[in-house]
Amino acid sequence: MCGIFGYTGNREAKEILLHGLRRLEYRGYDSAGICVIGENGDFKRLRVRGNLDILENHLANQVMPGKIGIAHTRWATHGAPSEQNAHPHSDCHENLFVVHNGIIENFSQLRGELLERGHEFSSETDTEIIAHLIEEKYEGDLSVAVREAIRQLEGSFAIAVVHRGEPETLVAARRESPLVIGVGTDEWFVASAVPAFLSMTRKVIFLEDNEIVTVCGKSLRITDLDGVEIERKPQEITWDLDAAEKSGYEDFMLKEIFEQPRAFMDTLADKFSREGEISIEGFFSNKDYVMSLRRIVIVACGTSYHAGLISRYLFEQWAKVPVEVEIASEFRYRGAVLSEQDLIIAISQSGETADTLASVREAKAAKVPVIALVNVVGSQMTREADSVIYTHAGPEIGVAATKTFTSQMAALAVLALHFGRIRDALSDGKYGVIAEALRGIPVLMKDVLADIEPIAECAQEYSHCENFLFLGRGISYPVALEGALKLKEISYIHAEGYPAGEMKHGPIALLDRRVPVVAVVTRDSLYEKMVSNIEEVKARGAPVIAIASTGDPDIEKVCDRVLRVPETIELLSPPLTVIPLQLLAYHIAKIRGCNVDQPRNLAKTVTVE
Ligand code: AGP
Repeated sequence: MCGIFGYTGNREAKEILLHGLRRLEYRGYDSAGICVIGENGDFKRLRVRGNLDILENHLANQVMPGKIGIAHTRWATHGAPSEQNAHPHSDCHENLFVVHNGIIENFSQLRGELLERGHEFSSETDTEIIAHLIEEKYEGDLSVAVREAIRQLEGSFAIAVVHRGEPETLVAARRESPLVIGVGTDEWFVASAVPAFLSMTRKVIFLEDNEIVTVCGKSLRITDLDGVEIERKPQEITWDLDAAEKSGYEDFMLKEIFEQPRAFMDTLADKFSREGEISIEGFFSNKDYVMSLRRIVIVACGTSYHAGLISRYLFEQWAKVPVEVEIASEFRYRGAVLSEQDLIIAISQSGETADTLASVREAKAAKVPVIALVNVVGSQMTREADSVIYTHAGPEIGVAATKTFTSQMAALAVLALHFGRIRDALSDGKYGVIAEALRGIPVLMKDVLADIEPIAECAQEYSHCENFLFLGRGISYPVALEGALKLKEISYIHAEGYPAGEMKHGPIALLDRRVPVVAVVTRDSLYEKMVSNIEEVKARGAPVIAIASTGDPDIEKVCDRVLRVPETIELLSPPLTVIPLQLLAYHIAKIRGCNVDQPRNLAKTVTVE
């Protein structure tokens, strides 16, 4: 996720662009850049590594005359955070400039073709190829060139483009990444989100997928990919700035819960080739290495640890590799016996968690290869690990991990499949079925998010309770742990996650009508056993809230409330079953008046022991 912003009008662009970027900074802050074009086609561009403060400091004494420009605040996906990789990017001759938010999936192929045709690149980004594609198509009409260029792109994008030859024209386009047009008086704004220009206009036009907008002087023109004109009237925004920053959601956490289908899809996007084969690079893709693997040791904390627990089932069943999953703060001091045939996978959203970093260093000292699975590009862990795999969830502002958790599952599923393929543990047929199901998960996530009313009602009914028990078996056991963690961290309710089969060995003593039990009970290989556990709970008078499959009418008979999720293959159910648990925790916390984005005593990144 990045923030893009563009302006054309009758005022000096520089300050307006900086103001807009400030409002988009939450979308990414590892580098920033701006480009302004003067009336005679002169341009000034400045890009920096780091956040907006650094850009502003550099710009403080610089004159940038011009009434049109584009700006960007970056959350790295392709290419490390650096000045070179910061936007705006240009074509070979610095005639046109592009800012982009999204991921171009066919970037490698397009880049190869452009190289063959003599283009030279100055960055590692997918964005730069867009500038070169527009350059090839440009014959005096930027709007047409952008349209022709984006027809070649696969993946997601929102772009804003300016050209020195048309120093009043701003062209923008989108597919699956947000883009909104601000309509001023003889001035226009394009941005990733409304807050960028809300103090300057409340009139907006939302661009739809595969639409291109061209603004210049008093004119606005929207077309589709075939150049057919589209009529669209501006709407009036009534939200305040705070709501606008959250795209209209009440909290960042809620916004991030709803971003999960997109984050999951983006995380898969750069890991599969167009032919559906896995294309991830690193020492772990070497056949001899993967064949010699003795075991995988996963180290992580909190929610990332739960993602690791889920992935154990995938690595063991699909790749037939033994897996241990360790809490990093324990692992680092345990003097664990490691060998060079082990592989450490360190999972961390931030890439800065002190205990996980220390575990990476322990592993390195024992000469064990390390893969870091990280969301924040350029974070410390990415510099210390032997290989890095990224989730592409974008910045997560809410302290409670949500979209990064499901994105971790996406990345780990790909890696488990990859190992399964290399180790010949998966037939072609089985691989095909799993890969297809994996790519179908974002659509199913959207289905879960389309029906959240029953979750809110359930929260209303049980929000007064002071203790909750979360139960699951098999792949749903770590989901139960995550459900309990979400509830306790944002609502301050005591909640425990337990493997349902263990309940009889202690926790059952806690149960009575005041202790709701949340049971993750999808139609899987352990379904009957789970239903028996639910019957035991009911017999003790505790209310049961089930997270159950859509095609399971019988579960109503043994549960007080049923929250439905669509069916998928057993090992891929967690990204679906966890969503009702995130939303249950969210609604209960809101009813209890808690600050869900910044829960008490917690920090987003724990950089101390
Ligand atoms: C989860 O909601 C918490 N924010 C916390 O448990 C978090 O997952 C943990 O601190 C690990 O952080 P990391 O993924 O950045 O390493």
